[in-house]
Amino acid sequence: MNILVTGANGQLGNEMRIMTKGSKDKYIFTDVCDEHPESVEMLHKLAGDDIDTSTTKLDITNLEDIRQMVKENDVKCIVNCAAWTNVDGAEDPEKYELVEMLNAKAPENLAIAIKEVGGLLVHISTDYVFGGDPYNTPCKEDQKGTPTGVYGLTKLHGEEKIIATGCDYVILRTAWLYSEFGKNFVKTMLNLTATKPQLKVVFDQVGTPTYAYDLALAITTILEAYKKESLTMNNEPFTKNGIYHFSNEGVSSWFDFTKMIAEYSGHTACDIQPCHSDEFPSPVKRPAFSILDKTKVKDVFGIKVNYWTDSLRKSLGNM
Ligand SMILES: NC(=O)c1ccc[n+]([C@@H]2O[C@H](COP(=O)([O-])OP(=O)(O)OC[C@H]3O[C@@H](n4cnc5c(N)ncnc54)[C@H](OP(=O)(O)O)[C@@H]3O)[C@@H](O)[C@H]2O)c1
Repeated sequence: MNILVTGANGQLGNEMRIMTKGSKDKYIFTDVCDEHPESVEMLHKLAGDDIDTSTTKLDITNLEDIRQMVKENDVKCIVNCAAWTNVDGAEDPEKYELVEMLNAKAPENLAIAIKEVGGLLVHISTDYVFGGDPYNTPCKEDQKGTPTGVYGLTKLHGEEKIIATGCDYVILRTAWLYSEFGKNFVKTMLNLTATKPQLKVVFDQVGTPTYAYDLALAITTILEAYKKESLTMNNEPFTKNGIYHFSNEGVSSWFDFTKMIAEYSGHTACDIQPCHSDEFPSPVKRPAFSILDKTKVKDVFGIKVNYWTDSLRKSLGNM
């Protein structure tokens, strides 16, 4: 099967490169930007010199370019790892159209192009589609979206637009993503806990840190399920179409997350203290409680989910 990965030079895209190395399927890794030299170095360190670090240029805001790439390469699945991911930056009113274009219109483009060839779109969404209503139990897939900011709102629009096209789709909502690639909370805190004598971190927002490698494994499991079913599909819809939640197991505040990063890295000299969110003014109010219920993805695809500290320890070992 030929599989197109968009946003391949981001955190999740690079983990997809590692996860699919040696696969019998053909993967085409695309992005608007070139691969970052530090990411190439990390890919070689983690997966050897023969890892595919190539990037085919594809801007997913351009429907005709997507159509052409899908047809020329006989693509049967698209894994969309591209997005506007700067949550604070999305609040700039001048950026709204751009954020909506990337998080809503572009996924719709992918859905249209894959529907035309009768394939599957695996799209990544976010826990930030929730948060506006107060709740204290893990969010299920059918819970009403109540985003608190532009990022979550435009990601919710993206989900709606994909579903409206009628294509085969799996939308995976994830949360608090980190990896060995690019910028993320783990890398920032690794640096700060190594260099600062004292640090304050918010304890009044809880969620689940998620290792992008584990998410990439879940995606390949979903692709295998699709591949198996597509052998006998006969133009019928994929029986597992739907929205799913995936994060690592467990619950943590940003404060607890930082304490574990420091402990596993031996940065014990830094005094880490909890604080309230209002001590760090932000243009967007983030959800106070954003735990995803993963029962559905585990039941439907038989996915086993790692506990967040086990995955954090593994990723830090790689860094
Ligand atoms: N990061 C998190 O904490 C988090 C949490 C929940 C859900 N998610 C979701 O998980 C997915 C993956 O996130 P991530 O952290 O891996 O993202 P990321 O590291 O920001 O990577 C996104 C990639 O998409 C590229 N891109 C931007 N505009 C594009 C376009 N027009 N066409 C094609 N590619 C384009 C980016 O290039 P540039 O760098 O040049 O812009 C970047 O390489 C996203 O859907 C995100 O919304 C992330």
